[in-house]
Amino acid sequence: MELQKKNVIISILLPIIAAFLLFFLKNSLKASSSGCSLVDNNHYWISSKRIVTPNGIISGAIEINDGKVISIVKDEQWRGITKGDQIVDFGEAVVMPGLIDVHAHLDDPGRDDWEGFPSGTKAAAAGGITTLIDMPLNSEPSTVSVQTLDLKIKAAKNRIYVDVGFWGGLVPENAFNATALENFLRAGVLGLKSFMCPSGINDFPMTNISHIKEGLSVLAKFKRPLLVHAEVQEKLVEDSVDNNDGDVKLYSTYLKTRPPSMEQAAITDLLTVSEDTRVGGPSEGAHLHVVHLSDAGISLDLLKKAKARGDSLTVETCPHYLSFSAEEIPYGDTRFKCAPPIRDGENKDKLWEALKVNDVDMLSSDHSPSLPSLKLLEQGNFLKAWGGISSLQYVLSATWTSGREYGVTFEQITSWWSERPAKLAGQHLKGAIAVGNYADIVAWEPETEFHLDDNHPSYAKHPSISAYMGRKLSGKVLATFVRGNLVYREGKHAPAACGTTILAQ
Ligand SMILES: *[C@@H]1O[C@H](CO)[C@@H](O)[C@H](O)[C@H]1NC(C)=O
Ligand SMILES: *[C@@H]1O[C@H](CO)[C@@H](O)[C@H](O)[C@H]1NC(C)=O
Ligand SMILES: [Zn+2]
Repeated sequence: MELQKKNVIISILLPIIAAFLLFFLKNSLKASSSGCSLVDNNHYWISSKRIVTPNGIISGAIEINDGKVISIVKDEQWRGITKGDQIVDFGEAVVMPGLIDVHAHLDDPGRDDWEGFPSGTKAAAAGGITTLIDMPLNSEPSTVSVQTLDLKIKAAKNRIYVDVGFWGGLVPENAFNATALENFLRAGVLGLKSFMCPSGINDFPMTNISHIKEGLSVLAKFKRPLLVHAEVQEKLVEDSVDNNDGDVKLYSTYLKTRPPSMEQAAITDLLTVSEDTRVGGPSEGAHLHVVHLSDAGISLDLLKKAKARGDSLTVETCPHYLSFSAEEIPYGDTRFKCAPPIRDGENKDKLWEALKVNDVDMLSSDHSPSLPSLKLLEQGNFLKAWGGISSLQYVLSATWTSGREYGVTFEQITSWWSERPAKLAGQHLKGAIAVGNYADIVAWEPETEFHLDDNHPSYAKHPSISAYMGRKLSGKVLATFVRGNLVYREGKHAPAACGTTILAQ
């Protein structure tokens, strides 16, 4: 009897116990490796009736394995071939390449009370952004050398939910030192950024056209771009403002301090060196990129001419220039302050038209928050408030909300927000849903509207300072995949921050 009992334990219970233990062990291993993703599988499919591919919008599915897209099939072909594979079905939702934001200030390290890598990249993931390139200023110190880039890389480690690359600063201190710039580029910055007017950050001084020319000649060897904040400060304007006793809470008072002529003058200056980037020119291989163009007048005409003559040149604008107009900015509402400034409604219409005919190449957020106290919400002084708009989580919805009134298509949004930014940042395996590319994907519902208020889950550090707060937006992000990891799904982020820091080789 005793013996039989023992045998029962050994032959029946032991295997059960062993299976149980194995199950727990396996699950705990799985959990630890999949903390990066809200789907457990390495191999799965994403399906939808509206998938935006370089060959048009299809109804079908994307096969993902090990972080990359391995096949794309249309409805009629794929139902039979999945054979029990996991399918993440998005029904009618639009499935597009993840957005690549080439212009974001995450202010980390040093000013992570303004934003920070964890909060900024969570906001990005919730907004369908799968890659962002961090600007070299507003963090402390600015990213202007190999050492300061190292600080960025360390600060980003295990703290980013999407992929993050870095622009480096071109400043007077390094501009004439080719060795310093070459070391900096070799250390992995994707390109350089400079200002033609004071940046508002003390350790990021402005460059003149000689610095820019020198920068381009070094960048040519690395085939990387120079991004330029194209405004120059005109003495006359400053003086007229100093003597102007206009109401500082009126947006128009601020607008007068930064007229279109500031952008025009900077671009005129810039085009004297952008010639160098032409085929056969002394800086062939380098590329100039004008950030956040606001003036859709003469500035745009100048850029069009330079492109037509063969300069290697691109231009971005931002959703806030396409969503708002100067006339509508409320008295004392400094959430709308940025530089260059938001101009009138007619200018907004022209910017949309320019985008649609590719005179403006792409969009970026220029997410540039600060402490609410610096935005000076109570005082409402437009001349003193921090200039920078908080928008990261809402750029896709904002682009669509305004854009659909101008008849934009999902394919256009994809080219402005993914394809062309990928090219600018040298990310050849990103920017399109294509076989061999990283599975960087956003699924969103264009038809779903939401009211952006304090109850809405916002992940940026100071959501209340966003210029979009209080608006009704169309386009709800359902899910965001970065390198095959489902990093965000309907209000939930993956537990672990597994974004990759992107360094140029
Ligand atoms: C140029 O940069 C290198 C590397 O950072 C540095 O060692 C050197 O002193 C710099 N040269 C000048 C003239 O500042
Ligand atoms: C730019 O500034 C440098 C000093 O950093 C100066 O040597 C150079 O002449 C200036 N170039 C122009 C065009 O003003
Ligand atoms: Zn910026």
